[in-house]
Amino acid sequence: MESFATAADLRARVAAWRRDGARIGFVPTMGNLHAGHFSLVALARARADKVVASVFVNPTQFGPNEDFASYPRTLDADRAGLAAYDCDVLFAPDVRTMYPFGAGESVRVDVPQITQTLEGKLRPGHFAGVATVVTKLFNLVQPDVAVFGQKDFQQLLVVRRLTEDLCLPIEIVAAPTWRESNGLAMSSRNRYLSGEQRDRAAVIHRTLCAMRERLHLGRAHADIEADALVELEAAGCVPDYAVIRRAADLAVPTAAERRGLIALIATRLGRARLIDNLPLDP
Ligand code: PAF
Repeated sequence: MESFATAADLRARVAAWRRDGARIGFVPTMGNLHAGHFSLVALARARADKVVASVFVNPTQFGPNEDFASYPRTLDADRAGLAAYDCDVLFAPDVRTMYPFGAGESVRVDVPQITQTLEGKLRPGHFAGVATVVTKLFNLVQPDVAVFGQKDFQQLLVVRRLTEDLCLPIEIVAAPTWRESNGLAMSSRNRYLSGEQRDRAAVIHRTLCAMRERLHLGRAHADIEADALVELEAAGCVPDYAVIRRAADLAVPTAAERRGLIALIATRLGRARLIDNLPLDP
């Protein structure tokens, strides 16, 4: 596997592949890679001739009081893991390469509507940071296909929307969420949890499953959401939300709607802020 840090090196490699007619797969990450990330690489591998993974902790998607400074940076281990998963190129740029005019002075990509709710409402500017860096990475890597985890469901919708709206010829593939044996969705932020908190965090997936079960039993959305909050709090979580939304656009469904829905949870547990979701169709 080759590693590049500059745009010029990456572009030269991509140009050579393009001359050979290769189909390019791309997995953008912020590093600290785990089995969930490697499953994205495997999906890209299956759909492309060449695979690029990026590792870049993107400053513009972190709020002022968030964990940018302490976000785990494990580039050597990430490089070894990617090589083992048959990745062709690791692109690990620095902030200057991604933001030549400075992170605060960057042209920004603002995706409307879908970013106004849930994570976008609680983390102002987060999705503009994500959309901006993903657009820049797409321009550098020029992939035919890019793989994103379904765990960050709102991010997936944001990326789909920007790809379509900016007329980018890139197929966006959604990868299923990887879970620990207790149901906890794999996340780089799980490393902020103690062993005991990791056990307790199983309540998130358990609650999502209970929300699905209750919807199928015909319970009202509002009651299901209220019960979910109580269950999360009983396990020591401090939830930001536990909601049922339309999977297509995260709009609030009418009381009568039962299909095409998704349950989403965001909660604090100790030092960690964790998100997860579960599509609710049978
Ligand atoms: O999901 C992530 O790790 C990041 O939000 C992404 C897509 C790599 C953009 O920085």
